[in-house]
Amino acid sequence: MATFKLDGKELPFTAGQTIITAAWKAGIDIPHYCWHPGLSVAANCRMCLVEIMPAPSQRPVMLDVLQLDPETKTYKVTQKPKLQPACQITVTEGMDVRSDTSDHVKKARKDVQEFLLLQHPVDCPICDQAGECKLQDYWLEHGQYGKRMRDEPVHKPKGVSFGPTIVYDAERCVVCTRCIRFMQEVAKDPVLDQRERGNLKEIVVSPGRKLEGNYTFMTEHVCPVGALTTKDFRFKARVWFLRGAKSVCQGCATGCNAWLDFDPRYNKAERYRPRENEAVNKFWMCDHGMMSYLAAHEGRIVDERVSGKVASLRKALEKTKSALDGVPHASVAIVHSAQASLEDNWALAELGKLLGATQSFVARAPDGDKDDILISADKNSNGQGVKLVAPEAKSWADFLAGVGSGAIRHAIALGAMTGDLEADKDKLGKLETLVTIASHESALTAAATVVLPATSWAEQNATYVNGKGIKQASDKALSPQGTSRPGWLHLHDVAKALGLEPTWSKLKDVRGKLGLAEAPGEGVLPTTLTQAI
Ligand code: SF4
Ligand code: SF4
Ligand code: FES
Repeated sequence: MATFKLDGKELPFTAGQTIITAAWKAGIDIPHYCWHPGLSVAANCRMCLVEIMPAPSQRPVMLDVLQLDPETKTYKVTQKPKLQPACQITVTEGMDVRSDTSDHVKKARKDVQEFLLLQHPVDCPICDQAGECKLQDYWLEHGQYGKRMRDEPVHKPKGVSFGPTIVYDAERCVVCTRCIRFMQEVAKDPVLDQRERGNLKEIVVSPGRKLEGNYTFMTEHVCPVGALTTKDFRFKARVWFLRGAKSVCQGCATGCNAWLDFDPRYNKAERYRPRENEAVNKFWMCDHGMMSYLAAHEGRIVDERVSGKVASLRKALEKTKSALDGVPHASVAIVHSAQASLEDNWALAELGKLLGATQSFVARAPDGDKDDILISADKNSNGQGVKLVAPEAKSWADFLAGVGSGAIRHAIALGAMTGDLEADKDKLGKLETLVTIASHESALTAAATVVLPATSWAEQNATYVNGKGIKQASDKALSPQGTSRPGWLHLHDVAKALGLEPTWSKLKDVRGKLGLAEAPGEGVLPTTLTQAI
């Protein structure tokens, strides 16, 4: 593989890669504001300047500069090498690049940093980006100068509502144009632009428009500073108190990779952020997905219920046993969930086998809108996972028809949102027994004889198979709420209550049977260590 040198270190690169991209791929950060690997190159912030050493046959490109002589207090003309933006220069074989090892580069970074902060209000204590702001981090790493400008900074618009989700602060903006480029290039809606010149420059929304649509949150996420904030997360948390767990969005079958940021002091999810995965979501998430972290707390089932009333686990299992007493096991319908994990669906399929059940179905949300960017029409996070463990499962409509005709009278189900809650609840009312293991309220819990509270995706290490068939691990962030427990564990207890011998009692049993690594969880990281690019 072709290589080049960065600070004396030999690094590989592929044809057409820029210096900053090759360094980033090798895990080396060349400081930057405007560069983003998912966007075009703007090369406007100048933070990524590097020194490219001339080849032996080349004449060095030098610039005349005025330098203050501290003794004579006069300026004299001297020369320095012309530094070049690492985000724009394509790597060539044998190129010798100096970044951290060049004094010229160190000085340039410090000067650029001072320039970018010249008019900045430095209102870090009340800024939502504090703790994950590139201006802060790079000042510490490359700035550390004393403030020289004593004039009143230029004041620009603050707290400008760009639309239903985003607020803009022009004084904090470094005009890197990442937000503009994101809306143009990824969201395909060029609704943002810049106006004025120099230190009056600011970002604006097209006249007559608002910043709205399916991808507005991403403008805040690509903003390297605190200029764009979301109305949802604004003034809600200090990021250094948050922890991030590697999560998978449950909003649709795309299965975007995300960080689920939560406050461990209150066991509370605070936001979703995209987590890079070239094969799935690249660097992005949609607005619906970004807000879906709310489901970690909304509509949760947090206790056992018998006939709609809160009960103990013992009572719930006794009721399960008595309700199915004398019922031929083969006649109990098994209802999988296209929204529950692979592990839970596997345990339900196993229970079905132990029962000798002859009918299995899958509950799923109906299809919805889709686009060519990320959003899938399939609004279920694990429809493909159900196909792996229960390929014979029939549709939700078939299940409702069977219940309606009286052919199905008893069922054990994993909970799922199925679209029309009231209509489905009425149809399910015909069942004599319905045992539902669920994390969230749905028609399947509203009509259930027994409800067993399952941990949600945010409270467990679990696997989801996305629409492309990619198995993805989602890690536990929160502690289980109420008396909720993993679905596969409830299914173990249901099997026992029915006098059966389940083949699993631990997560590693389930995962072993599925051929998955023993435990997917890698623990959680401080959010400040999982910052965006
Ligand atoms: S608002 Fe943020 S992303 Fe947009 S130009 Fe300003 S600093 Fe860059
Ligand atoms: S596209 Fe689907 S999986 Fe991705 S963020 Fe949106 S809802 Fe979530
Ligand atoms: S990152 Fe290269 S000029 Fe901004």
